[in-house]
Amino acid sequence: QMRNSLNALADTVTDPEEQQKFEQEMDTFFALFRRYLTDKASGSTLDWDKIKSPSPSEVVDYKSLPDDPSSSNLDKLAVLKLNGGLGTSMGCVGPKSVIEVRDGNTFLDLSVRQIEHLNRKYDADVPLLLMNSFNTDKDTAKIIKKYQGHKVRVRTFNQSRFPRIYRDSLLPVPESYDDSLEAWYPPGHGDLFESLVQSGELDNLLSQGRDVLFVSNGDNLGATVDTKILDHMIETGSEYIMELTPKTRADVKGGTLVNYEGQVQLLEIAQVPKEHVEDFKSIKKFKYFNTNNLWINLKAIKRLVEQNAIESEIIPNNKTINYQGSEVNVLQLETAVGAAIRHFEGAHGVVVPRSRFLPVKTCSDLLLVKSDLFYLEHGALKLDPVREGYANPLIKLGSHFKKVSGFQQRVPHMPKILELDHLTITGNVTLGKNVSLKGTVIIVCNDGQKIDIPNGSILENVVVTGNLTI
Ligand code: UTP
Repeated sequence: QMRNSLNALADTVTDPEEQQKFEQEMDTFFALFRRYLTDKASGSTLDWDKIKSPSPSEVVDYKSLPDDPSSSNLDKLAVLKLNGGLGTSMGCVGPKSVIEVRDGNTFLDLSVRQIEHLNRKYDADVPLLLMNSFNTDKDTAKIIKKYQGHKVRVRTFNQSRFPRIYRDSLLPVPESYDDSLEAWYPPGHGDLFESLVQSGELDNLLSQGRDVLFVSNGDNLGATVDTKILDHMIETGSEYIMELTPKTRADVKGGTLVNYEGQVQLLEIAQVPKEHVEDFKSIKKFKYFNTNNLWINLKAIKRLVEQNAIESEIIPNNKTINYQGSEVNVLQLETAVGAAIRHFEGAHGVVVPRSRFLPVKTCSDLLLVKSDLFYLEHGALKLDPVREGYANPLIKLGSHFKKVSGFQQRVPHMPKILELDHLTITGNVTLGKNVSLKGTVIIVCNDGQKIDIPNGSILENVVVTGNLTI
């Protein structure tokens, strides 16, 4: 039935070239869908007793890598930012990468400035690729125009557009090829491999002598090019390196690298049987988590895609969407780029400092990266030396700060937080200019009330509640 529905969808494409491309896309989707049904039927889960901590050779410490300041391998490198996601979780329309994060720069501006600096410094020509989705492509195209004339070549390609399926009938939601955006979804960053090959970008890179692709989330401001890891990758001939970082209690949900039947593998919380979830969260047994900064050999990608060998665990994502004016329950089948690690030769983890993992998922993260804790150097965020060796402050902002617009309105000037350990703000709170926050600061404003923290306030180890004006 699914096959028939997909064929019917293909019949609604009028342009022959587009039709061919669409049919290919639907074939890939169909393979994913079939695999989902088979996996579900077999109920195959991991055998918990076979999961071992990775061996020492499978998790190399970054500090043990030789420090060779040469840059001879940069001509083999290309950088890719995952750019298929929207800024909806931070209340923004359009691609997440166009949110302003620091000193008037968006995520995208910072990536471009970093590569531009690298190319200037080493007289190199490292290209920057963006993997867009149908959701982000148009807006991104408008924005990257401004980088023409910069010392960086920016290339973009689109990931797949798959049909959402009804949760009950398991049939596709879209009724035609040009049905509305809500009927489709980008199938997660695991789609990178297929899309890189299908778009022709992979062959393009290989023809330029590029061997290694450095992949990272567009919202990880710590993911800069590191020539030590690049050199290590090339010297060891490894086809895939995953940057890991030590887990703290705050990141117990991140995927971790394990050895399963002699093979390195990514273990995600979704794969863990319920009775072992607490074991999984243990920071002793599973010490590191995946930053999603990945170094992948391009020829190996081509080989594996051509062999149809990449079968990453499917992540079923249940959603309720508004389609044709009514609420419908849908399912979208996604995969993650990290899960493919087990297919690559010599794959291993490198344990990097936490500074290479600086994701901005919420406005609490935004406050951190906009603050005096960091300074900007050639597009890269550097931690103030005073704070080195210490954990970043724990910041929790309430629902009034969920959207970037609400955050900007309430925190128009960043507070000074160099000496802050913990901040919680809930309710209708506004911070004035030149506010300093130190130690543990908790500001709780009840419903219907308002707290304005005046200009120049210094709050140190205090709890502010009610309608108080200090
Ligand atoms: P996610 O939204 O998946 O973030 O986007 P996450 O919750 O941290 O997930 P994991 O742990 O990395 O999976 C991560 C990056 O992947 C891109 C987003 O734009 C973001 O840069 N992304 C996500 C895609 O490019 N395509 C997708 O289909 C999904």
